[in-house]
Amino acid sequence: MKPESSDKERIISNARVFVTGLFRDEYSGHDASHTFRTAALASRLAREEGADEFAVTLAALLHDVDDVKLSPETAEDLSRASEFMHGNGLDESLISTVCGIIRSVGFKGSDSVVPDSIEGKCVQDADRLDAIGAVGIARAFAYGGSRARPMHDPETPPRLNMNEAEYRSSRSTSVNHFYEKLFLLKDMMNTASAKRIAEARDGFMRDFIDEFLAEWAGER
Ligand code: ADP
Ligand code: NI
Repeated sequence: MKPESSDKERIISNARVFVTGLFRDEYSGHDASHTFRTAALASRLAREEGADEFAVTLAALLHDVDDVKLSPETAEDLSRASEFMHGNGLDESLISTVCGIIRSVGFKGSDSVVPDSIEGKCVQDADRLDAIGAVGIARAFAYGGSRARPMHDPETPPRLNMNEAEYRSSRSTSVNHFYEKLFLLKDMMNTASAKRIAEARDGFMRDFIDEFLAEWAGER
């Protein structure tokens, strides 16, 4: 089916209900609210960049449903996302476009890829914008807490330039996560709109870490 605009609204609304159910017991920074913020930002970027807003919003809503940390058994074939789309009558070509976007968005250290479509670029930028700034700071500490990791350990320096395997197996502190991932994201944005938003969020995050380390060291 090539969806009409009323079908699009229904499918987007079904996708919101679908992820709300899947992420019900998630408090690791990877919950339904992350998905909704990502979808809102991604559709804003899609409008600003002239991308296909429906494909972008749907891919953003489904981007974490087969995430390897939440659903390792479906991470390879994206079966939760594609069963949802089949169940909503979407045609094969749109399903494969959306699955292509989802596969290209994840952060994998130095193995991260730049999506080849503007739609993929919008979703990747939106997902990464939600990892930085005030919300990004909160997510990093929520994630660390959910994995029983220390907030900070001055004895353990950050590991820079990790590849995908190293990044996935890393058990770093929340503060190290800023150096290992969050401070790198500003320069990895694809679209002009996201670069502008990232600049402000990155500055806020750097001020926060500055203050955190000074307080930790008893200097302020
Ligand atoms: P996504 O798939 O949404 O891009 P991730 O799955 O990599 O994000 O991580 C979910 C959230 O948890 C993000 O905000 C991320 O910055 C944070 N996070 C991931 N790994 C760590 C870590 N080692 N320490 C602290 N926060 C982390
Ligand atoms: Ni995400």
